[in-house]
Amino acid sequence: MQSAPISKYRPFPPVNLPNRQWPGRTHTHAPIWCSVDLRDGNQALAQPMSVDEKLEYFEMLVRIGFKEIEVGFPSASQIEFDFCRRLIEEKRIPDDVAIQILCQCREELITRSMEALKGARNAIFHLYNSTSPAQRKHVFNATRADIVKIAVQGTRWVKQHAAPLVAAGTTLRFEYSPESFTSTELEFALEICEAVTDAWQPTRENKIILNLPATVEYATPNIHADQIEWMSNHLTRRDCTLISLHTHNDRGTGVAATELAMLAGADRVEGTLFGNGERTGNLDIVTVALNLYTHGIHPNLDFSNINEIREVYERTTRLEVPARQPYAGELTFTAFSGSHQDAIKKSWSSQKADEPWDVLYIPIDPADIGRSYKAIIRINAQSGKGGVAYILENEFGFSLPKLMHKEIGRIINDVADAKGTELQPADILEIFRHEYLDRDTPLVLEHFKTTERDSAVTCEASVTINGARHQLVGGGNGPIDAFTRALAATPLPKFEVLSYAEHSLGKGSEARAVSYIQIKTERGQTFFGAGIDTNIELASIKAIVSALNRATKT
Ligand code: KIV
Ligand code: ZN
Repeated sequence: MQSAPISKYRPFPPVNLPNRQWPGRTHTHAPIWCSVDLRDGNQALAQPMSVDEKLEYFEMLVRIGFKEIEVGFPSASQIEFDFCRRLIEEKRIPDDVAIQILCQCREELITRSMEALKGARNAIFHLYNSTSPAQRKHVFNATRADIVKIAVQGTRWVKQHAAPLVAAGTTLRFEYSPESFTSTELEFALEICEAVTDAWQPTRENKIILNLPATVEYATPNIHADQIEWMSNHLTRRDCTLISLHTHNDRGTGVAATELAMLAGADRVEGTLFGNGERTGNLDIVTVALNLYTHGIHPNLDFSNINEIREVYERTTRLEVPARQPYAGELTFTAFSGSHQDAIKKSWSSQKADEPWDVLYIPIDPADIGRSYKAIIRINAQSGKGGVAYILENEFGFSLPKLMHKEIGRIINDVADAKGTELQPADILEIFRHEYLDRDTPLVLEHFKTTERDSAVTCEASVTINGARHQLVGGGNGPIDAFTRALAATPLPKFEVLSYAEHSLGKGSEARAVSYIQIKTERGQTFFGAGIDTNIELASIKAIVSALNRATKT
């Protein structure tokens, strides 16, 4: 990098818009969405989609609810042409969906594109030419007037060559993009858009779409919003115009730029699923749509099975959705930090079904987009007690008493620390079993029986302690009390029972009881134990054995 002062780069000039309105506005409705996955997205793939993959993708876009879908650049390649024809000829386009095609301002390309669209019910002809000073200078060696002429001539050709299509019943709409709009002088962008609008003669019923692309993202999102508001204020036939956004993501702010420009008056948004597209990609429509949703605005797109959408996307584009992608990423609903896990667990358990979503750290209910609660917490050495308890409860049905969370949390964290890796739910269950349920040294319970008389319980137990058999008898006010007293005659540490909890595990004839018992030894140390049995009394006796074995472990 250049050392300061930096002479190689310049700040982006601000827009003179003293009375800007967008900062004080909030989103109130969803924009018109247009997917450009099959054109902008596909043209940016190392291995473009096959026709079959495009068809599958198109059908998915329709299922999601897109009503405008750019299907390609049919005059640029035979595959794109054939794909467009297949959609039309095989009647794969629902009546309420418009296909959009992209084309440059050249007559032979325009006529070829019209051929591709023959028979379409609803179509959008998207014409573009580049307008920025750098493009004019380096690529076209053309003046502003030359660039306007190209756009206007292109528009006239579209109008002329569309006539037979329209006469044959196609509803044709027109979109013009001054490519590199955000790097173009605003007055010139306005001039060319006005000239194109004049040539097209839109109406309120058939509006022109003026798509104002951030072909390369060079500025901060507030400047993008200013540019859009400025255009919206200055367009003469605003009532006959839909302002469309088309952001790319070179500075990583494509979503922010789109969201602010929606406040600035845009009507329509172009983008792709998960932000596929040239270089750093196009706008990620999934994120903007679900951001609206989490503010209580239905996006009119259905992402209720985002995993399936992601699967089709990854298979057909051969790209991966990053692990931390909003909403769709593998780790999006995963909390590693213990304090976050605790907060999630607490807020989730007090979340009422009919009240606004208020779960900490998770701005959307994962179930709304087909993701599960279960994947939310993963356990590593930094995880807290709440996370472990959450997994034991939600994955395996063990509802541990609150006081036990700390103890099991510490045990699991020690294992995670020693392993240096994240623990899966199955690992956590295994550690829990090993530590509590399967402990059989030094004490093993061989046989246990109680008799009750006048509310006094007598137990007879057969146990081995370090391999030596003991026959025990004890009496008390219940089985736990009686067994505790019986054990007092053995060499095991003396203890008192501090707390007891139990619940059933499973349902119906398969149900078993699980008991948790906390003991305090003579030395003042406390230990939990856990036991499972089909007999609730035996489950609690096993829990005592478990606690004692833990108390005497070396
Ligand atoms: O990014 C862009 O400017 C484009 C245009 C063709 C709309 O994709
Ligand atoms: Zn683009």
